[in-house]
Amino acid sequence: MGVQPSPPHLTLPILILISSSLLLVASHDYHDALSKCILFFEGQRSGFLPQDQRQNWRANSGLGDGSTNGIDLTGGYYDAGDNVKFGFPMAFSTTLLAWSVIEFGDSMPSDDLRNTLVAIRWATDYLLKTVSQPNRIFVQVGDPIKDHNCWERPEDMDTDRTVYSVEAPKTASDVAGETAAAFAASSMAFRSSDPGYAETLLRSAIRIFEYADNYKGAYSDNEDVRPGVCPFYCDFDGYQDELLWGAAWLGRASQNQSYRNYIQYNGKTLGADDNINEFGWDNKHAGLNVLVSKEFLEGNVYSLESYKASADSFMCTLIPESSSSHIEYTPGGLIYRPGGSNMQHVTSIAFLLLVYANYLSRTSQTVNCGSISIGPTSLHQQAKKQVDYLLGDNPMSMSYMVGYGDKYPQRLHHRGSSLPSIKDHPEFIPCKDGSVYFNSSSSNPNIHVGAVVGGPGEDDIYEDDRADFRKSEPTTYINAPLVGVLAYFVANPN
Ligand SMILES: *[C@@H]1O[C@H](CO)[C@@H](O)[C@H](O)[C@H]1NC(C)=O
Ligand SMILES: *[C@@H]1O[C@H](CO)[C@@H](O)[C@H](O)[C@H]1NC(C)=O
Repeated sequence: MGVQPSPPHLTLPILILISSSLLLVASHDYHDALSKCILFFEGQRSGFLPQDQRQNWRANSGLGDGSTNGIDLTGGYYDAGDNVKFGFPMAFSTTLLAWSVIEFGDSMPSDDLRNTLVAIRWATDYLLKTVSQPNRIFVQVGDPIKDHNCWERPEDMDTDRTVYSVEAPKTASDVAGETAAAFAASSMAFRSSDPGYAETLLRSAIRIFEYADNYKGAYSDNEDVRPGVCPFYCDFDGYQDELLWGAAWLGRASQNQSYRNYIQYNGKTLGADDNINEFGWDNKHAGLNVLVSKEFLEGNVYSLESYKASADSFMCTLIPESSSSHIEYTPGGLIYRPGGSNMQHVTSIAFLLLVYANYLSRTSQTVNCGSISIGPTSLHQQAKKQVDYLLGDNPMSMSYMVGYGDKYPQRLHHRGSSLPSIKDHPEFIPCKDGSVYFNSSSSNPNIHVGAVVGGPGEDDIYEDDRADFRKSEPTTYINAPLVGVLAYFVANPN
């Protein structure tokens, strides 16, 4: 065939082809990131580790947890770079892992789905122990002041493993409500693979929610518990949101109408539309509004329409074209909230964007932002920008997930990762002897694969400084919603 000039109308498709293949080159390996994101939880494990433990720089720890109180409280997760088991954020991380499976489990490769269920169960097995006595909840193991004074591996830990619990008539609606949410959501995640376990979780959710609701109040108002939980995971935002959130999850998991009535009739008194622009371990409002919107959008429960209006108003703060006041972004485009551990906001908000987009697209609905309406595609794009920034498309040209990409954080604020592994250095390293490792400018010897750090400051700068825990510490609640986000992009990379 002779060379012929291309007809002019072909130029456009060729250009599109070129630019989309460039995009493909620049795109991320979401599957690799997903597998690593789940693997992170193995590095946070407390208790007796199984044969198939893959983060093999870790070993057994906290095997006596609960023994001072005559109860087995082994297992569960350390929340971050320390060795304390804080029940409030652990339950929240569990809810988000389970929600990731509920919404995006179908998009997960089978190994990743299986590993996510294992990660959930590591938490729920522990949380079941915390509610094993009637009208009582064990909310924390480990004296955080003494723990934080040491730079010690979890395997060497010799600080007080103080057990904190709350018993009726004292209140813990926040931790108990979140634990109910974690059980209810996890029961849905396990329903097809392990119906018996799912049933145990659902029954426990119903029971612990009754305690939360019958004795209304915050756990940190209790003077026995307050010194141990504040200022770390104090209930700053009130317990009301966890009651609505727990009821919403119970309604979805049990399909029992009485929980739907609960969120409808108590929405006003429990402040369903207060402080709606946040979603994290303390403030559940934006997540609650997205979750309950499904009942209105897909279940046609018109009495819950106000939750959709609140979810819309949250989404509008994220959409540049909308006229509502906006969430803050760094110059490089990352969602930014002051207060440290910023990546927790990035991952939880990206998760809500994707969940809400799915609810909207299945019902052909849009977000109502006053004079404009926003479709699900725009929400997907916002979420993608955030996750791509996290994985490396940012002014530092680095990934904020350890072990992903070529350049990633080397000096995590994390005791187990920064001290020599007990496998290489079996000798005990006492509390203050850890300081030389804490102060060292070397990279951490144990690569905590999948850990996502708090991330850069509002100027997009990341110094990779171990002492700067606001930026360099990973947490379970950064990674938990990221599991769902990455699963979505594995199935929908473009
Ligand atoms: C629904 O939940 C309420 C509150 O826990 C309970 O009293 C009622 O028996 C439940 N109904 C069914 C059908 O399980
Ligand atoms: C090393 O770290 C400890 C905290 O663990 C700190 O108190 C101490 O001042 C540091 N020492 C040096 C020489 O930087």
